[in-house]
Amino acid sequence: MTEMSESMRLPVVVVGAGAMGGEWLRMLSRSPHARAVGVVDLDVDLARETVAGIGLDAVVGASLVDVVERSGARAVVNVTVPQAHRVVNEQAMRAGLPVLCEKPLAPTVAEALRQVALADATGQLLMVSQSRRYFDHLAAFRDVVGALGPIGAVHAQFFHEDHEPGFREQMAHPLLVDMSVHHFDMLRYLSADEPVSVRCDSWNPSWSWFAGDAAATATFELASGARFVYSGSRATPGLQTSWNADWRVYAEHGATHWDGDALVETDTVGVEVEVRSDSEGIEGSLKEFVASLRSGRTPQNEVRANVRTLAMVEGAIRSSDRGGEKVVLDDLIEESLALAIAAEEHDDIRDLLRSWTSAADGITTPAWGSAPAMIASGGAR
Ligand SMILES: NC(=O)c1ccc[n+]([C@@H]2O[C@H](COP(=O)([O-])OP(=O)(O)OC[C@H]3O[C@@H](n4cnc5c(N)ncnc54)[C@H](O)[C@@H]3O)[C@@H](O)[C@H]2O)c1
Repeated sequence: MTEMSESMRLPVVVVGAGAMGGEWLRMLSRSPHARAVGVVDLDVDLARETVAGIGLDAVVGASLVDVVERSGARAVVNVTVPQAHRVVNEQAMRAGLPVLCEKPLAPTVAEALRQVALADATGQLLMVSQSRRYFDHLAAFRDVVGALGPIGAVHAQFFHEDHEPGFREQMAHPLLVDMSVHHFDMLRYLSADEPVSVRCDSWNPSWSWFAGDAAATATFELASGARFVYSGSRATPGLQTSWNADWRVYAEHGATHWDGDALVETDTVGVEVEVRSDSEGIEGSLKEFVASLRSGRTPQNEVRANVRTLAMVEGAIRSSDRGGEKVVLDDLIEESLALAIAAEEHDDIRDLLRSWTSAADGITTPAWGSAPAMIASGGAR
């Protein structure tokens, strides 16, 4: 990298130096968009080990505010466990820094609403890294879907054998909360047809090494009346699908299939599959985050936009807990506002939440990015 391109790389602190934190740090070490100048973890020895393993020159510590001060960072990438996301995002945004936060943003919609208010109160960008939106073949698949007319049904299947000891194997819903959140969000990327309700059944196969439900089926009704039919399991030793799931879309003018990797196909005459090359996965997410900070443009996963993805997850869990009862996502989002207000400990955030006439009102307040560019260049404010 030249000296000029080096100075254009946004200096960031990565919080969370576990398995995925290591992936982020390795990606950042070769990114033209940003560089890690600090690493924070409750386990400082782990953070030091991770930094040394990658050969990084970065400030390491347990306190986010201290590491930001010592490193001169201009933004935070939050790669902690999901339960810590809100607290870390709050520390960063109150310290005046924008945040790119790993999925899932929060364990509940109520916690997500508190973070929408936090973004409003601090004026900072909070973007969720739904990194599975950024795949060249997914973009090509979306183009094909767009050429097929009104959608009748979308089917996605995810079957995996995941052995990842740690928080996932202890969760009540390791499939829905940790993995399906990607696939549910991809559905929303594929089409502007938003999910409105869900019926779900989740369970744990008898041989599963997960404590919670590793398998589920869910049917979402979309605003147009189309259906999204999803099935998945993380404890399936055999016939593995891609991490991205295996997708089929049936529409008025034909159908299309994506295997989740490099195969997009359609037998509809006149519709071509065109794959363009761009940054994929977390690299794509980082590129959009930095571009948004520089241009002042709202990124596709600004916190408000992510609330309905989380409502899909929580709605599916609620439906399963209630024996497959239909859960209306707008109702769930509205009920979450009262829970958010009750749980909020900071007066400024509670007052903001109380000022919303409804949750729908709160998440349609102008998103970050309606204002002119916040960072002109090189991350300098
Ligand atoms: N996008 C993807 O494809 C993808 C893949 C894997 C993981 N993830 C996400 O990345 C996040 C981290 O997952 P992981 O597998 O690296 O978990 P992990 O348990 O391996 O690492 C998490 C790290 O966060 C640290 N931590 C926890 N609370 C903290 C706090 N308050 N302050 C500072 N550090 C704290 C822990 O000490 C740990 O080192 C999760 O949200 C997960 O869902 C995303």
